[in-house]
Amino acid sequence: MSYLNSTQPAKQRGLSLLAASITATVIGVGVMAAVIAFTPVPASDSVNAEPSVEYGRLLVRETAAMMGPGHADPAMRFSGSSMDCASCHLDTGTEPGTLSLLQTDSAYPRFSGRDGGIRDLRDRINGCMTRSMNGKELPRDSIEMVSIEMYIKNLNQQYALMGESKTTPAEPAQFNEPNRRADIDAGEVVFRERCQVCHGDDGQGLLQTTNPADGYLFPPLWGPDSFNNGAGMTRLLTAARFIKARMPLGQPDLTDDEAYDVAAFMNSHERPQRENLELDYPDLTNKPIDSPYPPYADEFPVDQHRYGPFEPIRDYYRNL
Ligand code: HEC
Ligand code: HEC
Repeated sequence: MSYLNSTQPAKQRGLSLLAASITATVIGVGVMAAVIAFTPVPASDSVNAEPSVEYGRLLVRETAAMMGPGHADPAMRFSGSSMDCASCHLDTGTEPGTLSLLQTDSAYPRFSGRDGGIRDLRDRINGCMTRSMNGKELPRDSIEMVSIEMYIKNLNQQYALMGESKTTPAEPAQFNEPNRRADIDAGEVVFRERCQVCHGDDGQGLLQTTNPADGYLFPPLWGPDSFNNGAGMTRLLTAARFIKARMPLGQPDLTDDEAYDVAAFMNSHERPQRENLELDYPDLTNKPIDSPYPPYADEFPVDQHRYGPFEPIRDYYRNL
């Protein structure tokens, strides 16, 4: 089971870092009084007295431990899932390519079709908090929010200093969408052969320990602890792009057809439901064609928005 070797060291590094940061905090208790004048307020009695890049990194990498539903302090249970941000933003967002966070900071503030207005990085982080993590919004000025923002800004600064060999994504050729309806049954065959070994025969992943605060060794692809139905990963083309680029982890070698079908199989399952999704995209012509929930500014059936073929929908909007 060589994948265990490739996954565990990262987690162990995470844990020892966590231990290191707790030790540092204990040592730092004496100086805590001195930093009482910080502006951001803790979301609760968190061990961190002031925001830092390092705390932001921990929040993104060890989200379940730092603010998941298994957190000992109920006030710190912001995420509704025991997944980590890094379950999708691989290597804590430091890996160039699909869902990398290296260049994110320079893209904000920007217009969000989903929200119908200009949104900044904190709004975007809360977008993933409430959808991908099925959780609550972090208060905008909390130590947690400010730290995640500092971490993402710091990645951008690092990116500027990286050589070309480091910024070139080591990914397979970009996903090319097949012009057909996705085949859920064919997707199940791919899942059984290529995904089940890690994500489990029921797609529910594998927790590190019986304590959900320890997070997942392999995150769930659907079900009650997965991303909710308003998350970007529920869009077939977004999921297929990610899966072709990144999965199976360490050996991303699926064809376009396999990635398309297995993404459809994954997203054909039940997951947490988010309320008020009909309020997304106040201007429906901004809605992505693969958004899986209605309403739409066109007459194509929901099924076609969920599973394709997408080319006819794209044509319709092209000719508007
Ligand atoms: C289930 C997978 C998943 C998880 C878990 C997840 N995200 Fe995301 N994230 C996405 C997807 C998909 C996008 C959208 C990419 C796109 O627009 O095509 C995204 C986008 C983002 C962006 C904007 C990136 C950019 O360059 O515009 C930020 C910032 C972000 N996520 C932060 C977070 C944080 C912080 C967490 C944890 C609290 C998190 N995400 C958890 C899937 C995920
Ligand atoms: C070798 C083990 C392994 C295999 C095989 C594998 N994955 Fe993953 N997958 C992971 C791990 C681990 C993560 C979380 C990322 C991390 O921790 O670096 C992940 C994350 C994901 C995510 C985002 C997080 C979530 O749970 O939604 C999706 C989607 C996903 N995998 C889909 C697939 C699909 C589809 C396949 C089969 C084509 C597959 N994976 C095969 C290990 C694996």
